[in-house]
Amino acid sequence: MSNEILVSTPGVGEYKITVENGILNKAGKLTKPLTTAKKVAVVTDSNVAPLYLKRAIDSYRTAGFEVYSFSFTAGEASKTFETVKNILEFFCLIHLTRKDIAVALGGGVVGDMVGFASAIYLRGIDFVQLPTTLLSQVDSSVGGKTGCDLPAGKNLCGAFHNPIAVFIDPETLETLPEMYLKDGYSEAIKSGAILVPELFELFEKGEAMKNLNEVILQSVSMKSGVVQRDFTEKGERMFLNFGHTIGHAIERYENFSGLTHGQAVAVGMSVITKASEKAGLTKAGTYDRIVKCLKAHNLPTEVDFDLCRVIEFCKSDKKSQSDSLNLVILEDIGKAKIFPLSFSKLEAFILKGVL
Ligand SMILES: NC(=O)c1ccc[n+]([C@@H]2O[C@H](COP(=O)([O-])OP(=O)(O)OC[C@H]3O[C@@H](n4cnc5c(N)ncnc54)[C@H](O)[C@@H]3O)[C@@H](O)[C@H]2O)c1
Ligand SMILES: [Zn+2]
Repeated sequence: MSNEILVSTPGVGEYKITVENGILNKAGKLTKPLTTAKKVAVVTDSNVAPLYLKRAIDSYRTAGFEVYSFSFTAGEASKTFETVKNILEFFCLIHLTRKDIAVALGGGVVGDMVGFASAIYLRGIDFVQLPTTLLSQVDSSVGGKTGCDLPAGKNLCGAFHNPIAVFIDPETLETLPEMYLKDGYSEAIKSGAILVPELFELFEKGEAMKNLNEVILQSVSMKSGVVQRDFTEKGERMFLNFGHTIGHAIERYENFSGLTHGQAVAVGMSVITKASEKAGLTKAGTYDRIVKCLKAHNLPTEVDFDLCRVIEFCKSDKKSQSDSLNLVILEDIGKAKIFPLSFSKLEAFILKGVL
């Protein structure tokens, strides 16, 4: 498989994703042909700054750009309108013009907010993604979803805005704490489970950790294919939510202070597959494969509290507006499908696999 993936969205444009060890040092040079920018605004967070900011700045400076940087306090708690406003004010302070570019150096929190700030600053400027967590490398840097959280809930505010390039340097994962690595595994296992059986098997055989470049390429290739075919999430893109309806509900039930996102999604994938297999919608043995694979990567597959409480949170999802929801289930590993279910049937289905 090539280390480059072209994402082209009809009517929106195209950009390339490149996965290569050490590419962070070449990001400036590789960005140069894509822009007429004079200035580059590199935005990162307080954990990533001491690790990689100098390399990113040097890389853009060597390529001839005038480089400025801004860092905010790391963590989901910073993913607010206030931080987006601070990023925008930083853009103003350095007189970033419509021709100039922003660079998001960091995990999904940085990528989502820099993407959003770029989407709205001067009604839209170009930006580059330099993702440094496994989750952002396999998932959030691809697809053009940008945004921030609101007091009323996560990711309630944002815009679709594609980067002009994504440069993925898997070597940055060497400094990533284990807990965040596992969040990335969970999303990559999800990618395999919905559409790429070979990727799932790589995890199943215990070979994924030694082949992270391959995991990233396969995940990105799957996600970019899906978003090209369904940019605005009217159909197939919903597959990416496998495990997420219950996962998000668990995160909200625990007020975002319990399981991490990846852990909650792992439980979500297990719970929904147990139910769909019991209901006869999923090939027998699939639940066992999912559970074994997640456990082997130290991800949880159940919770020690009553799932009934969580189901109530599925119903009150702020993004859902009707009295039913589109669950994503597996017919088999690598074969997802949308399964609409009314709220009235949700509890019996999830708890007992009864339809
Ligand atoms: N846009 C999308 O399509 C999409 C998809 C999935 C998730 N997301 C969003 O992504 C966010 C989660 O992303 P995340 O897990 O990357 O979180 P994150 O950005 O908070 O990064 C996790 C932690 O790792 C640190 N870090 C980052 N890179 C590092 C490195 N190389 N070495 C050491 N530490 C490093 C960060 O400072 C942070 O403390 C959530 O806000 C979620 O909503 C967006
Ligand atoms: Zn997710």
